Amino acid sequence: MIDKLSEIEKSALESLALANDASSLDAWRIAQLGRSSPLMQVFSGFGTLSKEERPIVGQAANKVKVALEAALAEKTEAVKAAALAKSLEEEQLDVTLPGRTEHIGRLHPSTQQLRRVLDILAEMGFQVYTSREVETDDVNFQLLNFPPHHPAREMQDSLYIETEGREENPILMRTHTSPGQIHAMREYAKMNPENPPSIRIALPGMCFRAEQITARSEVQFNQVEGLAVGEGITFSDLKGTLTDFARRMFGQNARTRFRASYFPFTEPSAEMDIECFVCGGKGCQVCKNSGWLEILGCGMVHPNVLQNGGYDPKRYTGFAFGMGPERQLMLRSKMNDIRYFWGNDVRFLEQF
Ligand code: DAH
Repeated sequence: MIDKLSEIEKSALESLALANDASSLDAWRIAQLGRSSPLMQVFSGFGTLSKEERPIVGQAANKVKVALEAALAEKTEAVKAAALAKSLEEEQLDVTLPGRTEHIGRLHPSTQQLRRVLDILAEMGFQVYTSREVETDDVNFQLLNFPPHHPAREMQDSLYIETEGREENPILMRTHTSPGQIHAMREYAKMNPENPPSIRIALPGMCFRAEQITARSEVQFNQVEGLAVGEGITFSDLKGTLTDFARRMFGQNARTRFRASYFPFTEPSAEMDIECFVCGGKGCQVCKNSGWLEILGCGMVHPNVLQNGGYDPKRYTGFAFGMGPERQLMLRSKMNDIRYFWGNDVRFLEQF
């Protein structure tokens, strides 16, 4: 019997050596350790043995059982390790490959610049007042003191939306943010018609013109308009405010100058230049050798405009200014083509 047991053990271990995957290991377990395996048959044949033989054979059979179970456990581990090594080999991971970067959204460069302008104006006490993009001719032009045959009113400059039956007052896309001055003054004046409150507002937003699209002109662009109305406001306040704005926007050493100009809605009118930050005033391509860059239009609010807004020009004065965030950004980053702004090319947008 003892010989038979060592025979069973030997042949079981030999066949275990041939099992090299999970399913053949399972089959081996059933064949060698299952109910009808030769080893289990020894156990169930105990009844036929003599009293003296039983403990000896029992011990030997148990030893074989423990040995086979240990061999199975060891082989199972080895098979698992081999399978892992094989899959690592086959499914090679190249950890040196660069990862896929995520595209993180950001504000459009125009919006960024618009907000910079509004932040600075807010620090200086100007509140944002948003006004409509679709306007009527009277607010966009007439109430802003545009003479009846001013060239800016002609069809090629304005994008008209509705003209039929309203030849006197067609509907158009605003060509500038200045009509917001009229809306704002009227709303403020309504609060207290006898004593309208003073005003200090910034009017941001998109403007539209029927322009040929070229490197220098677009059909749409942003403007930020400023308006201050009150008693005793003078041209010195205008100069001081805008000089301070330029320093906050372009740096403490930014030099500015005012040039006389003309706008229908201001009198006197001016344009403000800053010293060219590309060449430091020496003259270059960006400033067309003048040493100066024009950055905004401004002036004292025309008495007719104050009147149209509900403010008595005998008592109130005010100043206004208008500037273009896209133009500022173009100067600042030496861009030579305005069409990049609405071209939606990510390579451009990502630079800001
Ligand atoms: N509305 C003018 C334009 O679109 C810009 C402007 C100039 C606005 C002078 C003003 C101003 O308020 O005072 O060209």
